[in-house]
Amino acid sequence: MNKNLLIRPFEVDDLEDIENMKKKYFETNVKLPSRQEMLEVARSSPDNFLVAEYLGRVVGCIFADPSLGHQISLVVVEEEFRRKGIATKLLGRLEEVLISKVISQILTNPYEKIAMEFFEKNGYKKHAIGLMKKYLYRT
Ligand SMILES: CC(C)(COP(=O)(O)OP(=O)(O)OC[C@H]1O[C@@H](n2cnc3c(N)ncnc32)[C@H](O)[C@@H]1OP(=O)(O)O)[C@@H](O)C(=O)NCCC(=O)NCCS
Repeated sequence: MNKNLLIRPFEVDDLEDIENMKKKYFETNVKLPSRQEMLEVARSSPDNFLVAEYLGRVVGCIFADPSLGHQISLVVVEEEFRRKGIATKLLGRLEEVLISKVISQILTNPYEKIAMEFFEKNGYKKHAIGLMKKYLYRT
C-alpha cells in the first residue's frame, strides 16, 4: 500500500471522483465544500486540497478552507481503503503545509463519532460545540 500510495495536490480531473465520495459517504444536510469552492481553492491555495491516489485511483482527499482560517471541512477515504492510515497521511501532509504557512492552529468540524475518533487519535481536542482544534508547532 505505502509504496503505491501517492499524496498530491488536487487536479481538476479528480473532481468527479471527489464528488462521488461526497455523495456516497455524507448525508445531504452536511455542509461540505461545493464544486466551485474546491476549484477556487485548488487555484488559489493548491496545497490546501490534497488527494490520495492508489495505483492511479483517487481513494481519498482532504480540504482545508483558507477562507475559514484553514478549517478542515472535508476529509474522506473510500470505504474499502479505510483503516490503512490513508487519512492520517493526508492530515500529516496538510499539517506540514499549514506549518510552512506559519499557521499556528487548525480547526475541524467532525460530524460523527468515527471522524471524532480519527481526529482525537491525531492530537485534536474538543474546542467549541462541534469543533476540534490542534496547535501546530514548528520543530
Ligand atoms: C474518518 C475517515 C476519513 C478516516 O479515514 P481512514 O483512512 O480510515 O483513517 P486512518 O486509517 O488514518 O485512521 C487513523 C485512526 O483514526 C481512528 N479511526 C479511524 N476509523 C475509525 C473507526 N471506524 N472506528 C474507530 N476509530 C477509527 C483510529 O484511531 C485509527 O487508528 P488505528 O487504525 O490505528 O486504530 C474515514 O472513516 C471516512 O472517510 N469516513 C467518512 C467521511 C467522514 O466522516 N469524514 C470526516 C468528516 S469531514
